[in-house]
Amino acid sequence: MHITILGAGNIGLAAGKKWKDKGHSITFGVRDPESQKAWDARNIGAEVKPFQEAMQGAEVVLIAVPFGVTDEVIKNIQFDWDNVIIIDATNPISASTEPFDSAAEAIAAWTGNGNVVKAFNTTGVGNMLNPIYNGTAIETFICGDDADAKKCVAGLAEDLGFRVMDMGGLQNAVLLENLAKMWVTAAYKLGKGPNFAFTVVQR
Ligand SMILES: NC(=O)c1ccc[n+]([C@@H]2O[C@H](COP(=O)([O-])OP(=O)(O)OC[C@H]3O[C@@H](n4cnc5c(N)ncnc54)[C@H](OP(=O)(O)O)[C@@H]3O)[C@@H](O)[C@H]2O)c1
Repeated sequence: MHITILGAGNIGLAAGKKWKDKGHSITFGVRDPESQKAWDARNIGAEVKPFQEAMQGAEVVLIAVPFGVTDEVIKNIQFDWDNVIIIDATNPISASTEPFDSAAEAIAAWTGNGNVVKAFNTTGVGNMLNPIYNGTAIETFICGDDADAKKCVAGLAEDLGFRVMDMGGLQNAVLLENLAKMWVTAAYKLGKGPNFAFTVVQR
């Protein structure tokens, strides 16, 4: 697939490299095409362009910038968002989502797009790079209102090595965003560090 990744930071680069290795075509949208992160993105074999130009030909768009700047990034792109699947990996850690219940619902409103899927936000980038614990892949939790969009994102999640747990409609994105806050609190405020993951056991 042709995947445009907005933001060439930790999450964008980790997903971009693994998807590139799986044969996807990757274009990064960045604010400064000459920054170190932009060159890191080129070094994985991706194209790197300013945000607007990076949207050309996109089938899937991964939002991997801080939630606090996502509104500004989206508003500065002239694009028919209806034609793409949007993956929202953001976490509203230090920016409010009001008047929306979640970052994902805010992004759906700002883009007017019904194909937003929340994914990849509930664990750290180290777990995206290596999602295997004790020989088994951890889950990435996804939610969204469009079944076809979720099916597509589930496939892309499996390309990253995750198992997928479908958490229903986009109204449940707040649950995924709160789970991320729990992970961040344990990892960085309570001293557990990033080498752990939440996973699902079942009988
Ligand atoms: N890191 C994690 O473990 C993790 C896990 C799950 C979800 N997330 C979420 O994923 C998103 C990306 O996180 P990250 O760790 O990859 O962040 P990061 O490494 O700090 O990278 C952020 C990216 O956003 C760009 N950016 C920052 N401010 C911008 C602005 N005002 N306008 C345009 N672009 C801007 C940066 O560009 P410059 O290089 O030009 O600054 C960079 O490309 C965040 O929403 C985060 O909450 C992160």
